[in-house]
Amino acid sequence: MADLSLTLGGIALPCPVLPASGTFGLQHARVFDIDRLGALVPKTITPGARTGHPAPRLAEAAGGILNAIGIPSDGVEAFIRDVLPLYKAHRPPVIVSVSADTAAEFADMAARFSGTDADGLELNLSCPNLEAGGRIFAADPRDAEAVVAGCRAVTTKPLWCKLTPAATAPGAVAAACEAAGADALIAGNTMPAMVLDKNGAPRVSNRTGGLSGPPLKPVGLRIVDDMAGRVAIPVIGCGGVMTLSDVRDYFAAGASAVAVGTGTLARPSTMVRLIDGLAAEIDARGTTLAAFREALRVAATGR
Ligand SMILES: Cc1cc2nc3c(=O)[nH]c(=O)nc-3n(C[C@H](O)[C@H](O)[C@H](O)COP(=O)(O)O)c2cc1C
Repeated sequence: MADLSLTLGGIALPCPVLPASGTFGLQHARVFDIDRLGALVPKTITPGARTGHPAPRLAEAAGGILNAIGIPSDGVEAFIRDVLPLYKAHRPPVIVSVSADTAAEFADMAARFSGTDADGLELNLSCPNLEAGGRIFAADPRDAEAVVAGCRAVTTKPLWCKLTPAATAPGAVAAACEAAGADALIAGNTMPAMVLDKNGAPRVSNRTGGLSGPPLKPVGLRIVDDMAGRVAIPVIGCGGVMTLSDVRDYFAAGASAVAVGTGTLARPSTMVRLIDGLAAEIDARGTTLAAFREALRVAATGR
C-alpha cells in the first residue's frame, strides 16, 4: 500500500486527508477507524464558555448546506482538562482549533496551549475581530498578521491559519500570515450566505450563515491557487471535498493536503474512502504522494 505520510506545517501526518473543524468528533470512532486520519481537528474552542446561536442552525442550500452554529464552546480550561486527553489517546496528531474576539485573546489561548501536548494550533481567523468593528480577521492582511505575530511570540507550537474565501485578496492574507510566522494555511472556511424558505423568511435563526459543501469547491480552488502562488508554506484545501476527483483538483490547484467537512456530514466514512482511493491511485501509477501532487500541479500551471 502506498506510503501517504508527509510532514506538513511542522507536523508529521500519516496521510494528507484530515477533518475540517466542527464536522468531526470522537463519536466518529464508532463509525470508522479515526486512527487512519491525517490529523484530528476538534471543533473550534473559545477562551470562555459560549452557547452559540439558537436553533434552527442548519439548512439545505442547493447542493450544500448553510450553518449558523455560532461556535458553542465550554471554554479553553474545560477543553484542556476534559477533552484534549481523549483526543490524545488516538494515534493521529491533534490540531486544536481556536478562535477569539481580539488578537490579545488569541495570544492568551496560544500561550495556554504551549504547556499542553496538543500537536499544533489552528487559528480560526474566520471569526469577527471585535477591535476592528466585527471585520473577519482573515478578511484583512493586517488583522490576520497581528493575530499570528501575537501567537508566534508566545509559542513554538506549529501554527496553522484557517482563512476565509470571503477575502478579496486571499493571497495577500496568506502572505501576511506566512510573514508573521504561520507554518501552514487552511483555505478556507465557509462562505457567508443566506437561504430563504418559500415565504421568503431566513431558514436559520441567525438570518445568515456559512455555505459549505460542493457549491464551495470552485471558490476553494481559486483561493488555494492564489495562496499557493504566493507562499512557500503548505496550503490545505478545504471546501466541497467529497470525492477523489475533488482531492486531485485541490492538489492541482496547489494544495498539499485536504480537509473534509460536509463530506463527512453527508457520509461519515468519506475520509477513509478518500484515503483508500488515494493510496490505490498512487499504487496504480507506481508513483509517490509528492510526485503525484507535483504532476497534477505542473499540469494545471504549465510549469
Ligand atoms: C456544521 C458545521 C460546523 C462548522 N464549525 C466550524 C468550526 O467550529 N470551526 C471552523 O473553523 N470551521 C467550522 N466549519 C467550517 C468547516 O470546517 C469547513 O471549513 C467548511 O465547512 C468548508 O468545508 P466543506 O465544504 O468540506 O464543509 C463548520 C462547518 C459546518 C458545516
